[in-house]
Amino acid sequence: MDIENQLISIEEEIKNICENYTDDNIGGWITGHGSVPCDILFIGEAPGKTEVEEKTPFVGMAGKNFEHYLNLINIKRENIRVTNTCYFRPIKIKESANGRSSISNRTPKTSEISLFKDILYKEINLVDPKIIITLGNIPLKTLTDCKSIGECHGKIIFSKKVNRYVFPMYHPSSLTYNRSEDFKQKYIEDWYKLKEALETI
Ligand code: URA
Repeated sequence: MDIENQLISIEEEIKNICENYTDDNIGGWITGHGSVPCDILFIGEAPGKTEVEEKTPFVGMAGKNFEHYLNLINIKRENIRVTNTCYFRPIKIKESANGRSSISNRTPKTSEISLFKDILYKEINLVDPKIIITLGNIPLKTLTDCKSIGECHGKIIFSKKVNRYVFPMYHPSSLTYNRSEDFKQKYIEDWYKLKEALETI
């Protein structure tokens, strides 16, 4: 099967899982985005509302941070592929006393991540990247034996799970939750370390 057809087959598998998923609430799904094959693959957690609307990973609030730091180290979107560990948008629906309901994102459950593990590995093999950059704990724990992002961010590791080099980074939305100057500095340093790492691969 050629690459185009393999991508179509991956999309059909994702669609099939999402359309038949009944264990919890979800709000749409997306596939990965960017050229295949590609030397640089970024993997996030799960899409949010804007990502589903625009059918593209990292275009919402976290995406704005992501784009900013990509620009900082001169990486262009057209030269990378971006995907997620969980291809659907996990949501929670809160009913309030006045009968109104509000929808928000939730972290994907381990069982939800497992649903997509084979597909994610298929996508990785098709993309065949020289390096995978994991954004946050969810892809990190799915693709490596690292226990936490705090221990291994900002350095290249070889993951036997995927048989590839992985560069763990904090999730771009962590900047929204942790507003300390120390953290921001650490986060920026990781992007410069990534720039260096990309020059060596
Ligand atoms: N956060 C993610 O982890 N992935 C997206 O695609 C968007 C936000």
